[in-house]
Amino acid sequence: MHEAVHQLWPELDWISNPDLREKTAKTWERALALSPLKADDLNQIPFTLLVPDCPTTFMEHKRCVVHIARKAAESMTEFMGNALPINKDTVIAGAILADVGKLLEYEKVDGKAKQSKRGEMLRHPFTGVALAMLCGVPDDVCHIIAAHAGEGDMVKRTTEAYIVHHADFMAFLPFKNLK
Ligand SMILES: [Fe+2]
Repeated sequence: MHEAVHQLWPELDWISNPDLREKTAKTWERALALSPLKADDLNQIPFTLLVPDCPTTFMEHKRCVVHIARKAAESMTEFMGNALPINKDTVIAGAILADVGKLLEYEKVDGKAKQSKRGEMLRHPFTGVALAMLCGVPDDVCHIIAAHAGEGDMVKRTTEAYIVHHADFMAFLPFKNLK
C-alpha cells in the first residue's frame, strides 16, 4: 500500500518534514484501505461528477492543484513573504490531502464512479478531516482540508488554506464551461 501511495503521489517528496510526509502518506493509505476504489481507479475516474463525461482524471486534477499551490506559495513568499509568512510544507500537505475524503464519497457501479450514500451524508472535507486526524495530521493541515471547498467560505481561512482553495477552484471552475 505504501508503494501504491508513493506512485500516486510523487509530490510527497516535496514535504520536507519527514513526520508530516509520513502522516500525509498514511492518511492516503488509510483512505485507500477503506475505499471501494483502488489506487489505479484514481487514474481513470473523472475528478468531478459535476461535469458530465469530464475528460480530466482524479489524479490529473489533484496533482495539478498541488503543483499550482506550491508555485503560488513560492511566488507569494518571494514578493510578499515579509508580510505573509507561508509554510510551504503545510500548503503541499494540505493540497495533497484536500480531496482524500473523496475516496469515501465515490463508489463504482458498472465501472462508473458515482456518489455513494456516505458521500451524500458527509462530503469529503468532513471525511477527509476525520481520516487525517486519525493519522495524526496537525490541525493547520486539517484546517486546509476542512476549508478548501465551499464549506470553507464560512470560516476564516489561513493564508495556506486560501492558496489551496484558489488553486483547487482555478483547476475546477473553467470545466463548468465545458458543460
Ligand atoms: Fe474537494
